[in-house]
Amino acid sequence: MTAPRRPGHPDPFADGDKVLLLDRKGRRYLQSLRTGGEFHFHAGVVAHDDLIGLPEGSWVRSSKGSALRALRPTAADWTVKAPRGAQVVYPKDQAMIVSLADVGPGSVVVEAGAGSGALTSALLRAVGDHGRVISFELRDEHADVAERNVVERFGGHPPNWELRRGDVSDGLAATPCDRLVLDLLEPGVVLAAAAESLRPGGIVCAYTPTVPQVMRLHEVFSSDERWGLAETVETLVRGWHVDGLSVRPNHRMVAHTAFLTTARRLPRDEALK
Ligand SMILES: C[S@@+](CC[C@H](N)C(=O)[O-])C[C@H]1O[C@@H](n2cnc3c(N)ncnc32)[C@H](O)[C@@H]1O
Repeated sequence: MTAPRRPGHPDPFADGDKVLLLDRKGRRYLQSLRTGGEFHFHAGVVAHDDLIGLPEGSWVRSSKGSALRALRPTAADWTVKAPRGAQVVYPKDQAMIVSLADVGPGSVVVEAGAGSGALTSALLRAVGDHGRVISFELRDEHADVAERNVVERFGGHPPNWELRRGDVSDGLAATPCDRLVLDLLEPGVVLAAAAESLRPGGIVCAYTPTVPQVMRLHEVFSSDERWGLAETVETLVRGWHVDGLSVRPNHRMVAHTAFLTTARRLPRDEALK
């Protein structure tokens, strides 16, 4: 398996490429091109052979005459279109998690739970070849989905990714890391183990949909001197409608996904008290 070619790759579409087909109403369909393959949808059939050999950005026509634009999928397209077992972290929050937790080339990140592998993929991209991601996932069926999605996305199991099937509470304390990203029901209960796992100066970032979860996190942070600089934010992304003189915010938006709470792991420093 080779890594799927990314948007803007100079070569035309080839057998095995991923392609995103967009119709005139903005509907998006993700396909894996196969010689002799076909894409069936409400507006007819598109032969994969009609796409193979075309440059990215070309139009194709379905058997019923519908026009579709063909592009290679972006990371955001993969997130939205990939099969899922658990609810995924969307691109707006993925980007903020990478930024707030300062995940970069060479970072060693522990993540729980892996869910559908959407955030895992963003973390793997951010840490690069010299970093590592260790993902815990409690439920086998979710771990299977995460593994399939990551393998498909990266064209194989990334050598710097370890998927551990089980409870993060059991393995975390013995897993040294410099970043910890939590997307699970009660992140507060794993913070004792997190303080063992994170190196001083390291960052924890928890993604939690509700206010009580945020409150419980802050209770732990304020009661344990190994944590400091705790902050909570949320990310609101409002699309705009731009059409001639009609330029205004969209009427609808995703108003809430989750709060992002970060904190730094601090050393116990009795001498300076
Ligand atoms: C909302 S999903 C994560 C989605 C993921 N961030 C993504 O973007 O695809 C939460 C996952 O955490 C897992 N989980 C819950 N408690 C856990 C624990 N203690 N240890 C490991 N995984 C856990 C659940 O099984 C579930 O798959």
